[in-house]
Amino acid sequence: MVDLKSQYDKIKETVNLSIQEVLETNSYINGPQVHHFQKSLEDYLDVKHVIPCANGTDALQIAMMGLDLQPGDEVITADFTFAATVEVIALLQLTPVLVDVDQVNMNISIEGIRKAITPKTKAIVPVHLFGRAANMEAIMAIAKEFNLYVIEDNAQAIGANCRFSDGSKKKAGTIGHVGATSFFPSKNLGCYGDGGAIFTNDDTLAHKLRGIVNHGMYERYHHDVVGVNSRLDSIQAAVLNAKLPLLDEYNKARQNAARKYSAAFEGHKNIISPTICDICDCHVFHQYTLRIIAADRNGLMQHLLDKGIPCAIYYPIPLHSQKAYKDSRYKEEDFPITNQLVKEVLSLPMHTELDDEQIKYITDSVLEFLK
Ligand SMILES: Cc1ncc(COP(=O)(O)O)c(C=O)c1O
Repeated sequence: MVDLKSQYDKIKETVNLSIQEVLETNSYINGPQVHHFQKSLEDYLDVKHVIPCANGTDALQIAMMGLDLQPGDEVITADFTFAATVEVIALLQLTPVLVDVDQVNMNISIEGIRKAITPKTKAIVPVHLFGRAANMEAIMAIAKEFNLYVIEDNAQAIGANCRFSDGSKKKAGTIGHVGATSFFPSKNLGCYGDGGAIFTNDDTLAHKLRGIVNHGMYERYHHDVVGVNSRLDSIQAAVLNAKLPLLDEYNKARQNAARKYSAAFEGHKNIISPTICDICDCHVFHQYTLRIIAADRNGLMQHLLDKGIPCAIYYPIPLHSQKAYKDSRYKEEDFPITNQLVKEVLSLPMHTELDDEQIKYITDSVLEFLK
């Protein structure tokens, strides 16, 4: 699904030099590379505070810990996403409230959020799924109306823009009270191991989060708040320092590949391709996900795999049907879109190194099966 080797070959010298610096300075935890990355990412995202941490799941957990959410508080999130989002809600003994998604953008349904709000609701966690920014303008308006926190799960959409009705744009992840991202190797900005970060414009919250990531310490061996051990290590920061200046170029390469895929599938009766907006970068194509309509999606998947084309179903089971998150509160009729999407979606290879020949082979192979 990704080609990290070809990408590395192109940036080998910068990455190797950057890692070498860490080895020479022997500062493996919280070294100067981490500080440099933090500052560069703050500038790139135009956000006041970036707090690097060990992975995207921790980033979500720490964000929620920082907001002082209490056991039993209800947190609304999307039914159609990777489990990490709901996992941390459950882990902190908060009550996950899963809601259906929008059929077109596959992000959390705005109507669904409104219906799910109760007096116990304390937060909304929109996920910018597959690289496409959720409708943050509508989500922030609901949050304001009901006095709720918004925690953006931006693991899949770093660099994407959210556009507002006054024409302004802001980077996904920087609009809610707090945002979280992942630098897992296959992400749009990936390191060579695990990594993550939290973003906020709130000075008080940022201070709290900086303590939580490091055992609740602000001064060595003084533990002021209950914390965790979640630090981005200097070697991963060194890789990210080499790759961050290329993020926009990488996202453009993904968008170009997506345009070529969609052009080949245009008008096909069995394929719904993701829409591509030309006026903003609201979709940075972490995944290129098709919906296969009235055709054998699983047969197509096997056909592609037989031809040596990696492809995957993100995600095959709605969260409300997962053993760990089943709950008698959920009714199947509340999730018509997620229940439909899990049967239709198919993600094709998507990365920065896809060339025209590969795209043609992939699109021809899809069309050959669907005729
Ligand atoms: C939507 C979403 N949230 C959270 C995460 C968790 O990130 P990590 O794997 O870095 O813990 C992921 C990673 O796949 C993700 O896709």
